[in-house]
Amino acid sequence: MSNTAILEINGEKHEFPLIVGTENEIGIDIKTLRGVTGGVTTIDPGYKNTGSCESAITFLNGEEGVLRYRGYAIEDLAEKADFLEVAYLLIFGNLPTQEQLDKFHADIKKESVVDDDIKKILDAFPKTAHPMGVLASLTSALTAFNPSSVNVDSEDDMYNAIVKILGKFPVLVAWTMRKKQGLPLNYGSEDLGYVENILKMMFEKPNKPYEQNDILINALDKLLILHADHEQNCSTSTVRIVGSSHAGLFASLSAGISALWGPLHGGANQAVLEMLEGIKEDGGDTKKYMAKAKDKEDPFRLMGFGHRVYKNFDPRAKIIKKAADEVLGDLGVEDPVLDIAKGLAEEALSDDYFVKRKLYPNVDFYSGIIYRAMGIPVEMFTVMFALGRLPGWIAQWREMRLRKEPIGRPRQIYIGENHREFKSINER
Ligand code: SDX
Repeated sequence: MSNTAILEINGEKHEFPLIVGTENEIGIDIKTLRGVTGGVTTIDPGYKNTGSCESAITFLNGEEGVLRYRGYAIEDLAEKADFLEVAYLLIFGNLPTQEQLDKFHADIKKESVVDDDIKKILDAFPKTAHPMGVLASLTSALTAFNPSSVNVDSEDDMYNAIVKILGKFPVLVAWTMRKKQGLPLNYGSEDLGYVENILKMMFEKPNKPYEQNDILINALDKLLILHADHEQNCSTSTVRIVGSSHAGLFASLSAGISALWGPLHGGANQAVLEMLEGIKEDGGDTKKYMAKAKDKEDPFRLMGFGHRVYKNFDPRAKIIKKAADEVLGDLGVEDPVLDIAKGLAEEALSDDYFVKRKLYPNVDFYSGIIYRAMGIPVEMFTVMFALGRLPGWIAQWREMRLRKEPIGRPRQIYIGENHREFKSINER
């Protein structure tokens, strides 16, 4: 196979090297394109065909529905690892030894207190504020209490920033939910596991001892693992491009939270539940909504369906669908929208419109059903996505800075007015 690509423009041939990844993906290296062609650029709205970086963190094969974190299959990690192990793997590149994991968790616990003045910021939000807007603001506000930006050339400095945000972020998540519910803000317990303590901070009631529930712990652990990273998705690309200007880690993460909020991205998990509830209220007529999803005149989309990369089943959706049956069964929860979801999926998977466009359930299609069964409010679903995605964003930001990637600054093709002479206002 040739290791170059040849582009002919106006009769002139230009040769560009091919980059081949460890999974045999091929990229055309066009770093010299504008220089050798006198300014020719590429255009690729939504970057559907354009790679932004070389990365060693996550591998996806959309055609085969493959997802691996640092080479480990998502199915194995979801089954055999816990979320903190996976966070360590994504960020530092290898599964931790017990000693490494214990130290990581201990260092995170040391940083699991936020400045009490954060509560004053939280108090300023109306209860109607969407939790994603609150979380993005509080994450950015952390920079006020931790002003020094990360010295990426210092491993210690980078490590300290990482354990700091892994310690404080779950507190912000729990407080964001409890503030909306009018509950006191707490810290959980030092003696609990990472995910156990998140649940305690979220659900502890002020007037009775909190009882751990292994079903909820295992369910949340699995969901957070499944959401932990997904190569160069919209919010991760946002974290990378903001960080590429050498903005701090917390500021970059805050931008990523805002990108994730959109209903085409992480906000889809909330939109799925609202859609399923709407179908249920409307008599459960899934065929009507399938027709709406296919009608180009109708803005309705089947939320939780389709994916930019997966043109086969999203492996995470398969795992979550199975977990939904298990968790609801274990909790003894009957949720009619699970049956509506399954009915929609079955219909779509045999419908030509969806089959032709290779639209399958994605990570967001079933996750909200489990979150709701766990007692998490619908508006908090995307916050839970952010909680899971945090280690992936950190890992990608760290990789981008350690590889000394250049500031992200795409080009464009100008389609506006040509030069015009200025006219004073009385001439217009
Ligand atoms: C996430 O990138 C990641 O990795 C994201 C993520 C992660 O872990 O970070 O996996 C998380 O964001 C999952 C996606 C959650 N979003 C949704 O569920 C929203 C509903 N899905 C879509 O809007 C859509 O499928 C996207 C945004 C996910 C992907 O959009 P693309 O790749 O830009 O595809 P497209 O919009 O160009 O659609 C191609 C065709 C179009 O029809 P035609 O113009 O070819 O006739 O498929 C149709 C679309 O109209 N289509 C849908 C559809 N999704 C695509 N039609 C109905 N319902 C849908 N959900």
